[in-house]
Parts: sequence; structure tokens; C-alpha cells
Amino acid sequence: MNDRRPSRKPSPEVNLNLNVRGISASSTVALNERCNAMLDAGKDVYKLGLGQSPFPVVEPVVEALRRNAGEKDYLPVKGLRALRDSVAGFHQRSDGIECSGDDVLIGPGSKELMFLLQLVYYGDLVIPTPAWVSYAPQAKIIGRQVRLLPTDPANEWRLTPEGLARLCEEDPGRPRLVVINYPSNPTGATYRLEELRRLARVASEHRVLLLSDEIYGELHHKGQHVSIARFYPEGTIISSGLSKWCGAGGWRLGTFLFPPTMHWLLDAMAAAASETYTSTAAPIQHAAVTAFNGGPEIDEYLQLSRRVLGALGRWTHRRFEAVGITCAKPSGAFYLFPDFAAHAEQLAARGIQTSPELVEALLEDTGVAILPGCDFGRAPQELTARLAYVDFDGAAALEAAAQIPKDAPIDEAFLRKLCTRVTMAIDRICDWVAPDSA
Ligand SMILES: Cc1ncc(COP(=O)(O)O)c(C=O)c1O
Repeated sequence: MNDRRPSRKPSPEVNLNLNVRGISASSTVALNERCNAMLDAGKDVYKLGLGQSPFPVVEPVVEALRRNAGEKDYLPVKGLRALRDSVAGFHQRSDGIECSGDDVLIGPGSKELMFLLQLVYYGDLVIPTPAWVSYAPQAKIIGRQVRLLPTDPANEWRLTPEGLARLCEEDPGRPRLVVINYPSNPTGATYRLEELRRLARVASEHRVLLLSDEIYGELHHKGQHVSIARFYPEGTIISSGLSKWCGAGGWRLGTFLFPPTMHWLLDAMAAAASETYTSTAAPIQHAAVTAFNGGPEIDEYLQLSRRVLGALGRWTHRRFEAVGITCAKPSGAFYLFPDFAAHAEQLAARGIQTSPELVEALLEDTGVAILPGCDFGRAPQELTARLAYVDFDGAAALEAAAQIPKDAPIDEAFLRKLCTRVTMAIDRICDWVAPDSA
């Protein structure tokens, strides 16, 4: 006879930590896997979902990795001494900040360092939205309170000093870790000097810990990135790494620069690191010294990267504005955060009322993959999305851009020839949303 009594053996899922239950793989990674499956099935897909640099790793850094492939020893948990010094030199040159290698912590990606920071620092995580996808899930996994601070599209989605002050005045003295990220993923916007000064003043008055995620700093399209640490040096940690400006996301190397008065935090993170990943891959750290030391070849690579990205971002922005898709003017990185609100009525007539429905229909109808605004902390009813304009051959684009005189603009013909898949994808989005404009 069949025994139908329920088994006494608990399902293994019951043992999942409550903070992790219901969390799935990061949406950017999930979308990338879905696109790859569609490509394998022979579909034409335009991958504007994953925020990965289109450019190859700059040659002297690749050469340094070749030279150091034999490095096999575990390195110090805080990072290779020469690399910590070289990262400090990079911040002195780029950001004008007085610092030394003692203030630097190296990790296997800045994402991991952010996780460790949240683990060892007790405080609410304050995130202006729209924001990069991973800050809030990290806080949830660790069990920290998250305060989302919605920003205004009219202000190009930037956190205002007034908004930050209002939040801090709600419960003065409460420990808070405030994240700002610029040039921004997902909007491509950045802060003006005066805004940084005023935000820094509020942060300092309320003694909040500021995590300034400046991983796209070197990809400011005009090379004019300014760190907020200049105005709040005693309370700002600058997060950076190789992933974006050096095109080396898969190498997994991130950096944190701490104020000298916050070595207690650096030490606590290093203690947690020593019990988890031990140290960052040795050949990568040795090669990264070359990257952070900089030099003429790296400067040239950065200037060309900025010119291509700036031209493509501005062109896309103009195309969108022409068909009533609004978005902030891009100043850096390789993202735009278009808002389809002006088309809400005709989209609703097609059964599209939320950002997940919007991106799903777009992918099905046109093959263009972008991410819904709700993945970046916005309400699902808001018809926003994040687009990464990176689906092109970055090596070919850099080579061609090097042939154009420095003071001549990169024009539409260049973009259509060398960033073809992005321009085609943008045409498809515009035709899809406003067929009469074609
Ligand atoms: C805003 C932002 N911060 C941090 C990261 C993580 O970078 P890393 O590769 O250093 O972990 C990313 C990666 O996409 C990002 O977009």
C-alpha cells in the first residue's frame, strides 16, 4: 500500500536564511542569460541590457598580466603594497586628494567591497533612486534597513541637498551609509560642482558615512569628473576599480579609498575578507599596478573611449527626444534612463502599463533587450527603462576614432558604421514607440 503521509523530512529550502529567501540572480545577469539563449535559438538580439564596457582591456595592462601570469602566492589581504600605492597615486592625480597606499583596500570587484562594508558597518543604507541594481539586495542579504530616496526626472534624477537633509532630520544622529553614484548607472548623469559642495555640506553636518561610487569617474565624457571627497574628505569612501574605465570587468578588481581617520573600518573589512576570499587574484593585482600608474597610452585610450561614448550617448539622446522619449542628457558612462511616459496612452492601448511589460514587449517585438526601471528602485507603473549603449565592437571603434582629428566631432556616419548595432537598436525602439515618425 502507498503511504501518502507527508514526509517528515524538511525541504532543504526551509533552511534558507530568511534574508536570502526570494532573492534571485541579479536582473542584469538574468537578462544576459536570456539574450544568449535567444541568440542560440537563431534570433536577432540587440544586447543593451548588461552594463559591460565595449572596449578591450588597454594593451599595456594586458601585457602586464602576461608578464605576471606566474605570480601564484597569496597576497596580503588588504592588497599588494605596490598596487595600494599606485591606486593612491591615481586618486591624487585624478581627484586631487591627499592620500597614501595605507588608505587603500583592494578587493575582488568593488561589488564585493560594498558588501563587506555593509556587513561590518552598522547603519541604514540610503539609496537615491534610480540606482544600480545591487546596493539594495546586498543590504537585504545582510539584514540592513534600506531607505530609498526617490529623485526627480526634472532634476536629471540627482539627489538634492534638501532631500538628503530632510531624511537626516527625521531621526538625527541615526547611523547612515549614503550611496551616491556618478556618472550614474543607470542615468549617465553627473553632479555639478556646486551640487557636490552642497551635498557634502549636508553629509558633513549630519555626519553620515558617504560611499561615493565613482567607478565611472574616468568615463566622464569630457574627462571632468570631480570627486565629492574633495569637499567631505573626512567622511567619504571612494569606490572604483578596473571594471569600467579599463574594460576589465571579468578580471574582478575593485578599490576603496578611505579617509585616514577611518582605518578602523578598513581594518574591519580586511578582517572579514581574511575569513572569506583571503586576497584578490595575484596576477590581476600585479597587472593592475600598470593600469593605475597610467601613462600616455592609457590616457590616449581613455580619451578615445570618452569621445566614442560621448558621441553615441548624445546621438541616442537626440534620437529619443525627437520622438518624445525623455531622458537626462548623458555626461558619462554608457547608460541612458529613457522615460516613455509621453507614450503612455498608446502603450496602454497595446496592453503595456508597467516597465516590465514595456521591456518584455520591446524584446519580443524588436529584439532589443533593455532593463525595466523598477529594477533600479522605481515604481513599476513608471514607464522607465535602462539602456546600456555598448553592443558594438569597441576595438574597431577606438581604432577608427584615432584617425579623426582631436578637434573634429564624431558624426552620425561614424556611429552608424562603427556602432551599428546600437544605432539599429535605437532606430527600432523609436519606430516601435512612434511608428509615424519614421
Ligand atoms: C554603479 C556600479 N557600481 C559598482 C559596480 C560593480 O563593479 P565591480 O565590477 O567593480 O564589482 C557596477 C557594475 O556594473 C556598477 O555599475
